[in-house]
Amino acid sequence: MKNFYITTPIYYANDKPHLGHSYTTIAADVIARYYRLKGMNVFFLTGTDEHGSKIAEAANKNDVTCQNWVDGIIGDFKSLWKRLNISYNDFIRTTEERHIKKVREVFGKLLRQGDIYKGKYSGWYCVACESYFTDTQIAEGKCPDCSKNVERLEEESYFFKLSKYQDTLLKHYEKNPDFMQPSWRASEMVNFVKSGLKDLSVSRKNVKWGIPVPGDETHTVYVWFDALLNYISAAEDKDIWPCDIHLVGKEIFKFHTVIWPAMLLALDIPLPKTVFAHGWWTVNGEKMSKSKGNFVNPHKFIDKYGCDAYRYFVLRQIPFGDDGDFSEKSFLERYNSDLANNLGNLISRTFSMVEKYSLQNVAPSANSEFPIGKLLNNFDEKFTKSMENIELTASLELIWEIIDEANRTIDSEKPWVLFKTDKEKLKLVFENLLSAVEIISKAISSFMPETSEKIKKIIADKKVSEPLFPRIND
Ligand code: MSP
Repeated sequence: MKNFYITTPIYYANDKPHLGHSYTTIAADVIARYYRLKGMNVFFLTGTDEHGSKIAEAANKNDVTCQNWVDGIIGDFKSLWKRLNISYNDFIRTTEERHIKKVREVFGKLLRQGDIYKGKYSGWYCVACESYFTDTQIAEGKCPDCSKNVERLEEESYFFKLSKYQDTLLKHYEKNPDFMQPSWRASEMVNFVKSGLKDLSVSRKNVKWGIPVPGDETHTVYVWFDALLNYISAAEDKDIWPCDIHLVGKEIFKFHTVIWPAMLLALDIPLPKTVFAHGWWTVNGEKMSKSKGNFVNPHKFIDKYGCDAYRYFVLRQIPFGDDGDFSEKSFLERYNSDLANNLGNLISRTFSMVEKYSLQNVAPSANSEFPIGKLLNNFDEKFTKSMENIELTASLELIWEIIDEANRTIDSEKPWVLFKTDKEKLKLVFENLLSAVEIISKAISSFMPETSEKIKKIIADKKVSEPLFPRIND
C-alpha cells in the first residue's frame, strides 16, 4: 500500500484554538480523507507546540505550572478536533518523551558534526516572538513581526550553520517546482535565500521552559528548532518519511521552506515533497487579535450551523491559498444558498419524487444526451486533478456545478409533467439525477463526512426523512 504523510503545524498551547487553527486542520483532514478513500496508507499528524516563553507567560498569568497549563489546553484542541470530525492518526506534544529524546539526539548530532557551534549573539531581542533582529530590521525599536518593544541583548548562544545550506536549498527549489506551493508564493522565499542566509541562533539562555541543550543545561533549545522536529519525532519507527505535504499558514512558510529543509539536509534526511501555505482570515475586515478580542470561536458556529456547514464554509469561502474574510453574514448566506437551497433541496426533491412516482427501481446512470450526464461523465478526471493539486475550493466548486446542473435538470425537464406524458423519459431523467446524487455523496465525503453518510443512507432507503440543512433565518 502506498504511504501518504500529511501534517498540520503544531499549534502553540498558550491559548484556546480559534478559526485559524481550525482552518489548517480541516484542510489537512480533507486531504487525509481523500487519500484514505483512494486506498493509501495515510498518516495524518497534528499536535501542540508546548515550549517557550509564550507558554510560560500564559501559565504564569493563570497561576499554574507550565506543565499543568499545557495539559489543560490540549483538551481544548482535542475536543474541537473531535467535534470537527478530524481524523488525525497521531497527536504529538512537544513535551512528550518521544519528542524530547529526538530533539536532544538531533541537537547533539549536529553539534558533534559541526553544524551547530557555540558563539555569541548580539542584537535586538523580541520576547514575544522569541526572535533576534539586526539593527536594520527593527524600525524605531519595535519588533518587525509584532511591533512590540525589543531589547538589546548580548549573550552566548548555539548557532545552526544555516548559511552553509544556501546553495543546496536554491538548487532544491529549482529542481523541485512542487516543493513550494502555491507556486506564486515561492519567489519570496527564493529571494530571501538568495539575499544571503545568516546562521541561526538555536538556543536561549533566558527561556527556562524548554528542552535543555544536551551537555549544556544553562541553555534551552530554541522553540522553532524544537517544534519543527515534531514531524520526524512522530514518524520515528513508522517508515513513512519523507512527508508528502506540510500544510501551514503563510506566516510560517519560511520556517518550513528554509530552516526546516536546511536542518534535514544537515541530518542527511530526505526533504518533504511539498510545503503548502494557505492564506489568512480576517474577521469582519479586521485582523484577529487579543487586543480586539475578535477571535472566532469555532464552537459557536458548529453549535448553530453544524460541523459540516463549518467545514464547508471555511474551504469554500476563499480560494484555498488566498487570504479572505470571515463574517457571520457571509456564513449565513452560504449556508442558506449553497447548503439549504442547492444541496439540501436537490436531495429532498429528488427523493420525494422517487417515492411519489414510484421510481425506486431506477438504477443510477449518466447519459451524455443530457447536460447533467455530460458533466457527470467528465467529473472524476477533473475532480481528481484538482484534489491532487490541493485546489480544495475549486474541488468544491466542481461538486456544486453538478448540484446546480442537477437542480436545473429538474426545473427544465419537469418530472411532474413527464409523469403524465412520458414515463420513459422520466426514467432517463432519474437515472441521471440518481447518478448525480451518488457522485455527489462520494465526492463530498472528504469535505463533509456526516452529510455524505446521511445522503448514502437516503440513497439506500430511497426516501428522505428530514431536511439535511434546514433554512436558518436570522
Ligand atoms: N507553533 C507554531 C507552528 C510550529 S510548526 C512546527 C505556530 N503555532 S500557532 O498556534 O501560531 O498556529 C499557527 C497556524 O495557525 C498557522 O500556520 C495557520 O495554520 C493557523 N492560523 C493562525 N491564525 C490564522 C488566521 N488568521 N488565518 C488562517 N490561519 C491562521 O505558529
